[in-house]
Amino acid sequence: MAEGPHPPTESLDLDDARRRYHFALAPEDLDRLPFYSALLARLEGDDTALALLASVRAEQRNPMLVLAALQRAALLGHPVLAPIYDLVRHGVPTDPGVAADAVLEVVRRDPAVVGEQLWRSTQTNEPGRSAVLQAVVRDLVEPGQTMAVIDVGASAGINLFFDRFAVRARDDGDPLTLVCVDEGAVDRDAPLPSVGARVGIDPSPLDLGDDDDRLWLKACLWPEERRRHERFDAIVERYRTWPSTTLLEGGALERLEDALELSDDDDVRVVVNTWSAFYFSEPERRAYYEALRALGATSNVAWVSIESTLVAWPGLEEVTDEGHRGASQVVTARPGEAPVRWGWCHPHGRWVERLSRP
Ligand SMILES: C[S@@+](CC[C@H](N)C(=O)[O-])C[C@H]1O[C@@H](n2cnc3c(N)ncnc32)[C@H](O)[C@@H]1O
Repeated sequence: MAEGPHPPTESLDLDDARRRYHFALAPEDLDRLPFYSALLARLEGDDTALALLASVRAEQRNPMLVLAALQRAALLGHPVLAPIYDLVRHGVPTDPGVAADAVLEVVRRDPAVVGEQLWRSTQTNEPGRSAVLQAVVRDLVEPGQTMAVIDVGASAGINLFFDRFAVRARDDGDPLTLVCVDEGAVDRDAPLPSVGARVGIDPSPLDLGDDDDRLWLKACLWPEERRRHERFDAIVERYRTWPSTTLLEGGALERLEDALELSDDDDVRVVVNTWSAFYFSEPERRAYYEALRALGATSNVAWVSIESTLVAWPGLEEVTDEGHRGASQVVTARPGEAPVRWGWCHPHGRWVERLSRP
Protein backbone atom coordinates (compact mmCIF):
# COMPACT_ATOMS: atom_id res chain seq x y z
CA MET A 1 0.00 0.00 0.00
CA ALA A 2 2.80 2.40 0.72
CA GLU A 3 4.11 1.67 -2.76
CA GLY A 4 1.34 3.15 -4.85
CA PRO A 5 -1.88 5.13 -4.86
CA HIS A 6 -4.68 3.72 -2.75
CA PRO A 7 -7.35 1.99 -4.84
CA PRO A 8 -10.77 3.69 -4.58
CA THR A 9 -12.74 2.29 -1.65
CA GLU A 10 -15.67 1.27 -3.83
CA SER A 11 -13.44 -1.16 -5.77
CA LEU A 12 -12.42 -2.97 -2.58
CA ASP A 13 -14.07 -6.17 -1.39
CA LEU A 14 -15.03 -5.11 2.13
CA ASP A 15 -17.19 -8.19 2.73
CA ASP A 16 -14.20 -10.40 2.08
CA ALA A 17 -12.10 -8.29 4.48
CA ARG A 18 -14.84 -8.59 7.12
CA ARG A 19 -14.80 -12.40 6.79
CA ARG A 20 -11.04 -12.44 7.08
CA TYR A 21 -11.08 -10.47 10.34
CA HIS A 22 -13.93 -12.62 11.61
CA PHE A 23 -12.13 -15.92 11.03
CA ALA A 24 -8.61 -14.70 11.85
CA LEU A 25 -8.42 -16.61 15.13
CA ALA A 26 -9.40 -20.20 15.85
CA PRO A 27 -12.11 -20.59 18.54
CA GLU A 28 -9.57 -21.86 21.10
CA ASP A 29 -7.45 -18.73 20.54
CA LEU A 30 -10.42 -16.36 20.70
CA ASP A 31 -11.01 -17.65 24.23
CA ARG A 32 -7.37 -17.29 25.27
CA LEU A 33 -6.74 -13.84 23.79
CA PRO A 34 -9.39 -11.36 24.98
CA PHE A 35 -7.55 -8.26 23.72
CA TYR A 36 -6.92 -9.58 20.19
CA SER A 37 -10.48 -11.03 20.10
CA ALA A 38 -11.94 -7.63 21.03
CA LEU A 39 -9.66 -5.82 18.60
CA LEU A 40 -10.52 -8.13 15.68
CA ALA A 41 -14.23 -7.65 16.46
CA ARG A 42 -13.74 -3.84 16.31
CA LEU A 43 -11.72 -4.03 13.08
CA GLU A 44 -14.34 -6.27 11.49
CA GLY A 45 -17.00 -3.61 12.08
CA ASP A 46 -15.07 -0.56 10.94
CA ASP A 47 -14.93 0.69 7.33
CA THR A 48 -11.44 2.19 7.60
CA ALA A 49 -10.05 -1.08 8.96
CA LEU A 50 -11.90 -3.08 6.29
CA ALA A 51 -10.54 -0.84 3.53
CA LEU A 52 -6.99 -1.18 4.87
CA LEU A 53 -7.12 -4.98 4.78
CA ALA A 54 -8.98 -5.11 1.47
CA SER A 55 -6.29 -2.96 -0.16
CA VAL A 56 -3.49 -5.42 0.62
CA ARG A 57 -2.20 -7.50 -2.31
CA ALA A 58 -4.23 -10.71 -2.48
CA GLU A 59 -1.58 -13.17 -1.28
CA GLN A 60 -0.92 -11.11 1.87
CA ARG A 61 -4.51 -10.12 2.67
CA ASN A 62 -4.21 -11.49 6.19
CA PRO A 63 -5.54 -9.65 9.27
CA MET A 64 -2.29 -10.60 11.03
CA LEU A 65 -0.54 -8.06 8.80
CA VAL A 66 -2.77 -5.26 10.16
CA LEU A 67 -2.30 -6.48 13.74
CA ALA A 68 1.47 -6.64 13.27
CA ALA A 69 1.56 -3.10 11.84
CA LEU A 70 -0.24 -1.83 14.94
CA GLN A 71 2.02 -3.67 17.34
CA ARG A 72 5.09 -2.44 15.45
CA ALA A 73 3.97 1.16 16.02
CA ALA A 74 3.45 0.33 19.69
CA LEU A 75 6.94 -1.17 19.99
CA LEU A 76 8.32 2.01 18.41
CA GLY A 77 6.68 4.11 21.14
CA HIS A 78 3.43 5.38 19.56
CA PRO A 79 1.95 7.62 22.30
CA VAL A 80 -1.44 5.85 22.43
CA LEU A 81 -0.51 2.33 21.36
CA ALA A 82 2.73 1.85 23.32
CA PRO A 83 1.20 1.97 26.83
CA ILE A 84 -1.73 -0.26 25.82
CA TYR A 85 0.42 -2.97 24.23
CA ASP A 86 2.92 -2.75 27.05
CA LEU A 87 0.25 -3.59 29.62
CA VAL A 88 -1.15 -6.37 27.46
CA ARG A 89 2.30 -7.88 26.81
CA HIS A 90 3.08 -7.88 30.51
CA GLY A 91 -0.23 -9.50 31.44
CA VAL A 92 -1.41 -6.49 33.48
CA PRO A 93 -5.21 -6.82 33.77
CA THR A 94 -6.86 -4.29 31.45
CA ASP A 95 -10.36 -4.07 30.06
CA PRO A 96 -9.89 -5.62 26.58
CA GLY A 97 -12.87 -3.73 25.16
CA VAL A 98 -11.58 -0.34 26.33
CA ALA A 99 -8.08 -1.12 25.03
CA ALA A 100 -9.48 -2.28 21.66
CA ASP A 101 -11.62 0.88 21.35
CA ALA A 102 -8.54 3.05 21.88
CA VAL A 103 -6.58 1.12 19.23
CA LEU A 104 -9.46 1.40 16.77
CA GLU A 105 -9.55 5.15 17.34
CA VAL A 106 -5.90 5.32 16.22
CA VAL A 107 -6.73 3.33 13.08
CA ARG A 108 -9.61 5.70 12.28
CA ARG A 109 -7.74 8.93 12.93
CA ASP A 110 -4.43 7.92 11.42
CA PRO A 111 -4.82 4.95 9.04
CA ALA A 112 -1.27 5.56 7.80
CA VAL A 113 0.03 3.95 11.01
CA VAL A 114 -1.19 0.69 9.48
CA GLY A 115 -1.25 1.62 5.80
CA GLU A 116 2.44 2.49 5.58
CA GLN A 117 3.42 -1.00 6.73
CA LEU A 118 1.14 -3.00 4.44
CA TRP A 119 3.89 -3.52 1.86
CA ARG A 120 5.41 -5.95 4.35
CA SER A 121 4.51 -9.66 4.65
CA THR A 122 3.23 -11.66 7.57
CA GLN A 123 6.47 -13.31 8.54
CA THR A 124 5.75 -14.75 11.96
CA ASN A 125 8.58 -17.16 12.59
CA GLU A 126 7.04 -19.58 15.03
CA PRO A 127 9.45 -21.94 16.83
CA GLY A 128 6.46 -23.84 18.29
CA ARG A 129 6.22 -25.52 14.88
CA SER A 130 9.59 -27.13 15.65
CA ALA A 131 7.78 -29.29 18.22
CA VAL A 132 5.65 -30.66 15.38
CA LEU A 133 8.68 -31.08 13.12
CA GLN A 134 10.45 -33.09 15.82
CA ALA A 135 7.43 -35.40 16.10
CA VAL A 136 7.25 -35.89 12.34
CA VAL A 137 10.89 -36.32 11.26
CA ARG A 138 11.27 -39.40 13.43
CA ASP A 139 8.79 -41.05 11.04
CA LEU A 140 10.58 -39.93 7.89
CA VAL A 141 14.20 -40.69 8.70
CA GLU A 142 15.22 -44.23 9.69
CA PRO A 143 17.28 -44.63 12.88
CA GLY A 144 20.96 -44.09 12.07
CA GLN A 145 20.25 -42.05 8.91
CA THR A 146 21.21 -38.38 8.85
CA MET A 147 19.07 -35.66 7.38
CA ALA A 148 19.21 -32.17 5.92
CA VAL A 149 16.42 -29.68 6.50
CA ILE A 150 15.24 -27.33 3.77
CA ASP A 151 12.71 -24.85 5.10
CA VAL A 152 10.70 -23.24 2.31
CA GLY A 153 9.37 -19.87 3.49
CA ALA A 154 11.81 -19.83 6.37
CA SER A 155 11.33 -16.18 7.44
CA ALA A 156 14.34 -15.69 9.76
CA GLY A 157 15.15 -19.41 9.73
CA ILE A 158 14.32 -20.15 13.38
CA ASN A 159 12.83 -23.56 12.54
CA LEU A 160 16.10 -24.57 10.90
CA PHE A 161 17.11 -25.07 14.54
CA PHE A 162 14.11 -27.35 15.13
CA ASP A 163 16.21 -29.96 16.93
CA ARG A 164 17.71 -27.47 19.41
CA PHE A 165 14.53 -27.05 21.46
CA ALA A 166 13.38 -29.25 24.32
CA VAL A 167 9.71 -30.18 23.99
CA ARG A 168 7.58 -30.80 27.07
CA ALA A 169 3.88 -31.09 27.82
CA ARG A 170 4.20 -28.41 30.53
CA ASP A 171 6.11 -25.19 30.84
CA ASP A 172 9.32 -25.82 32.79
CA GLY A 173 10.24 -22.13 33.09
CA ASP A 174 12.94 -22.26 30.38
CA PRO A 175 11.89 -19.89 27.57
CA LEU A 176 13.56 -22.19 25.04
CA THR A 177 11.35 -25.14 25.98
CA LEU A 178 8.49 -25.67 23.54
CA VAL A 179 5.26 -26.62 25.25
CA CYS A 180 3.33 -29.12 23.15
CA VAL A 181 0.68 -31.62 24.20
CA ASP A 182 0.79 -34.83 22.16
CA GLU A 183 -2.23 -36.83 21.12
CA GLY A 184 -1.92 -40.18 19.37
CA ALA A 185 1.25 -42.23 19.13
CA VAL A 186 3.94 -39.56 19.17
CA ASP A 187 7.30 -40.93 20.24
CA ARG A 188 9.43 -38.21 21.80
CA ASP A 189 11.88 -40.64 23.41
CA ALA A 190 13.49 -41.92 20.21
CA PRO A 191 16.61 -39.88 19.36
CA LEU A 192 16.24 -37.24 16.68
CA PRO A 193 18.22 -37.80 13.49
CA SER A 194 21.41 -35.81 13.28
CA VAL A 195 21.11 -32.84 10.96
CA GLY A 196 23.65 -31.85 8.30
CA ALA A 197 22.75 -28.92 6.06
CA ARG A 198 20.16 -26.41 7.29
CA VAL A 199 18.93 -24.30 4.40
CA GLY A 200 16.06 -21.82 4.26
CA ILE A 201 14.38 -20.24 1.25
CA ASP A 202 12.39 -17.01 1.44
CA PRO A 203 11.58 -14.16 -0.97
CA SER A 204 12.45 -11.73 1.83
CA PRO A 205 14.55 -13.55 4.41
CA LEU A 206 14.72 -11.78 7.75
CA ASP A 207 17.92 -11.41 9.74
CA LEU A 208 17.82 -11.95 13.50
CA GLY A 209 20.84 -9.66 13.71
CA ASP A 210 19.05 -6.71 12.07
CA ASP A 211 17.11 -4.24 14.26
CA ASP A 212 14.23 -3.58 11.82
CA ASP A 213 13.80 -7.28 11.00
CA ARG A 214 13.79 -8.18 14.71
CA LEU A 215 11.19 -5.49 15.38
CA TRP A 216 8.93 -6.88 12.65
CA LEU A 217 9.33 -10.44 13.94
CA LYS A 218 8.32 -9.24 17.42
CA ALA A 219 5.39 -7.29 15.97
CA CYS A 220 4.10 -10.48 14.34
CA LEU A 221 3.87 -12.23 17.74
CA TRP A 222 0.59 -11.93 19.59
CA PRO A 223 0.99 -9.49 22.50
CA GLU A 224 -1.03 -11.58 24.95
CA GLU A 225 1.42 -14.47 24.59
CA ARG A 226 4.23 -13.30 26.81
CA ARG A 227 5.97 -16.70 26.59
CA ARG A 228 6.37 -16.33 22.82
CA HIS A 229 8.01 -12.93 23.27
CA GLU A 230 10.35 -14.33 25.93
CA ARG A 231 11.18 -17.30 23.69
CA PHE A 232 11.95 -15.00 20.79
CA ASP A 233 14.26 -12.88 22.98
CA ALA A 234 16.02 -16.03 24.23
CA ILE A 235 16.54 -17.26 20.65
CA VAL A 236 18.03 -13.91 19.64
CA GLU A 237 20.44 -14.19 22.54
CA ARG A 238 21.42 -17.77 21.75
CA TYR A 239 21.17 -18.50 17.99
CA ARG A 240 24.75 -17.49 17.19
CA THR A 241 25.96 -20.42 19.31
CA TRP A 242 23.83 -22.91 17.31
CA PRO A 243 24.86 -24.69 14.05
CA SER A 244 25.23 -22.50 11.01
CA THR A 245 22.39 -22.08 8.54
CA THR A 246 22.02 -20.70 5.02
CA LEU A 247 19.12 -18.51 3.94
CA LEU A 248 18.56 -18.27 0.18
CA GLU A 249 16.59 -15.33 -1.15
CA GLY A 250 13.85 -16.20 -3.64
CA GLY A 251 10.62 -18.08 -4.17
CA ALA A 252 10.04 -21.75 -3.40
CA LEU A 253 10.39 -23.02 -6.95
CA GLU A 254 13.14 -20.63 -7.90
CA ARG A 255 15.54 -21.81 -5.17
CA LEU A 256 14.55 -25.40 -4.34
CA GLU A 257 17.22 -27.00 -6.56
CA ASP A 258 19.89 -24.61 -5.17
CA ALA A 259 18.90 -25.55 -1.64
CA LEU A 260 19.08 -29.27 -2.39
CA GLU A 261 22.52 -28.82 -3.87
CA LEU A 262 23.77 -27.47 -0.54
CA SER A 263 22.90 -30.76 1.16
CA ASP A 264 24.63 -34.11 1.10
CA ASP A 265 23.10 -36.65 -1.34
CA ASP A 266 23.33 -39.37 1.30
CA ASP A 267 21.20 -37.46 3.77
CA VAL A 268 17.42 -37.66 3.71
CA ARG A 269 16.60 -34.15 2.46
CA VAL A 270 13.50 -33.14 4.39
CA VAL A 271 11.76 -30.26 2.61
CA VAL A 272 9.49 -28.42 4.97
CA ASN A 273 6.83 -25.74 4.48
CA THR A 274 5.13 -24.41 7.57
CA TRP A 275 2.51 -21.73 7.00
CA SER A 276 4.26 -20.57 3.84
CA ALA A 277 2.46 -22.44 1.02
CA PHE A 278 -0.58 -20.54 2.31
CA TYR A 279 0.98 -17.45 0.69
CA PHE A 280 1.88 -19.10 -2.63
CA SER A 281 -0.20 -18.38 -5.71
CA GLU A 282 -2.35 -21.32 -6.81
CA PRO A 283 -0.14 -22.15 -9.85
CA GLU A 284 3.00 -21.90 -7.69
CA ARG A 285 1.49 -24.24 -5.11
CA ARG A 286 0.59 -26.80 -7.76
CA ALA A 287 4.03 -26.61 -9.39
CA TYR A 288 5.74 -26.89 -5.98
CA TYR A 289 3.71 -30.01 -5.17
CA GLU A 290 4.56 -31.57 -8.51
CA ALA A 291 8.25 -30.74 -8.10
CA LEU A 292 8.29 -32.40 -4.70
CA ARG A 293 6.49 -35.49 -6.00
CA ALA A 294 9.03 -35.79 -8.82
CA LEU A 295 11.99 -35.28 -6.47
CA GLY A 296 10.58 -37.77 -3.95
CA ALA A 297 10.14 -40.38 -6.67
CA THR A 298 13.73 -40.20 -7.87
CA SER A 299 15.82 -39.09 -4.89
CA ASN A 300 16.09 -39.13 -1.15
CA VAL A 301 13.68 -36.22 -0.66
CA ALA A 302 10.96 -36.30 2.01
CA TRP A 303 8.29 -33.67 2.59
CA VAL A 304 6.54 -32.12 5.57
CA SER A 305 3.74 -29.63 5.10
CA ILE A 306 2.14 -27.86 8.06
CA GLU A 307 -0.49 -25.52 6.67
CA SER A 308 -4.00 -24.20 7.05
CA THR A 309 -6.77 -26.46 5.75
CA LEU A 310 -7.29 -23.74 3.14
CA VAL A 311 -4.16 -25.09 1.47
CA ALA A 312 -5.52 -27.97 -0.58
CA TRP A 313 -3.02 -30.52 -1.86
CA PRO A 314 -4.05 -32.72 -4.78
CA GLY A 315 -5.08 -36.23 -3.78
CA LEU A 316 -5.91 -35.35 -0.16
CA GLU A 317 -9.59 -34.98 0.50
CA GLU A 318 -10.78 -31.60 1.70
CA VAL A 319 -11.43 -31.46 5.41
CA THR A 320 -14.69 -30.02 6.60
CA ASP A 321 -15.07 -31.41 10.12
CA GLU A 322 -15.76 -28.84 12.86
CA GLY A 323 -13.50 -30.68 15.28
CA HIS A 324 -10.46 -29.44 13.36
CA ARG A 325 -11.65 -25.89 12.73
CA GLY A 326 -8.66 -23.58 13.01
CA ALA A 327 -6.17 -26.46 13.22
CA SER A 328 -3.30 -26.92 10.80
CA GLN A 329 -3.01 -30.11 8.83
CA VAL A 330 0.23 -32.03 8.78
CA VAL A 331 0.99 -33.81 5.52
CA THR A 332 4.10 -35.91 5.01
CA ALA A 333 5.73 -37.94 2.27
CA ARG A 334 8.58 -40.37 2.78
CA PRO A 335 11.03 -40.65 -0.13
CA GLY A 336 9.37 -42.65 -2.91
CA GLU A 337 5.96 -42.65 -1.24
CA ALA A 338 2.77 -40.69 -1.86
CA PRO A 339 1.87 -37.88 0.55
CA VAL A 340 -0.40 -38.81 3.46
CA ARG A 341 -2.22 -36.82 6.10
CA TRP A 342 0.04 -37.46 9.11
CA GLY A 343 -2.11 -35.59 11.57
CA TRP A 344 -3.10 -32.21 12.93
CA CYS A 345 -1.61 -29.52 15.09
CA HIS A 346 -2.30 -26.15 16.61
CA PRO A 347 -1.05 -23.47 14.16
CA HIS A 348 1.68 -22.54 16.65
CA GLY A 349 2.42 -26.11 17.75
CA ARG A 350 0.65 -25.97 21.14
CA TRP A 351 -0.62 -29.49 20.49
CA VAL A 352 -0.07 -32.20 17.92
CA GLU A 353 -2.31 -35.10 17.02
CA ARG A 354 -0.88 -38.00 15.11
CA LEU A 355 -3.44 -40.04 13.22
CA SER A 356 -3.03 -43.77 13.51
CA ARG A 357 -1.33 -45.33 10.55
CA PRO A 358 -3.62 -47.01 8.03
C1 LIG B 1 3.86 -16.79 8.10
S1 LIG B 1 5.54 -16.87 7.60
C2 LIG B 1 5.98 -18.48 8.20
C3 LIG B 1 7.45 -18.58 8.46
C4 LIG B 1 7.94 -19.94 8.92
N1 LIG B 1 7.72 -20.95 7.91
C5 LIG B 1 7.33 -20.36 10.22
O1 LIG B 1 6.52 -21.29 10.22
O2 LIG B 1 7.69 -19.81 11.25
C6 LIG B 1 5.42 -17.13 5.84
C7 LIG B 1 6.74 -17.00 5.13
O3 LIG B 1 6.55 -17.49 3.79
C8 LIG B 1 7.32 -16.68 2.93
N2 LIG B 1 6.84 -16.81 1.55
C9 LIG B 1 5.81 -16.16 0.98
N3 LIG B 1 5.73 -16.51 -0.33
C10 LIG B 1 6.71 -17.39 -0.58
C11 LIG B 1 7.15 -18.10 -1.73
N4 LIG B 1 6.53 -17.96 -2.88
N5 LIG B 1 8.21 -18.93 -1.62
C12 LIG B 1 8.83 -19.10 -0.43
N6 LIG B 1 8.46 -18.43 0.69
C13 LIG B 1 7.42 -17.60 0.63
C14 LIG B 1 7.14 -15.29 3.53
O4 LIG B 1 8.15 -14.38 3.08
C15 LIG B 1 7.22 -15.57 5.02
O5 LIG B 1 8.51 -15.43 5.53
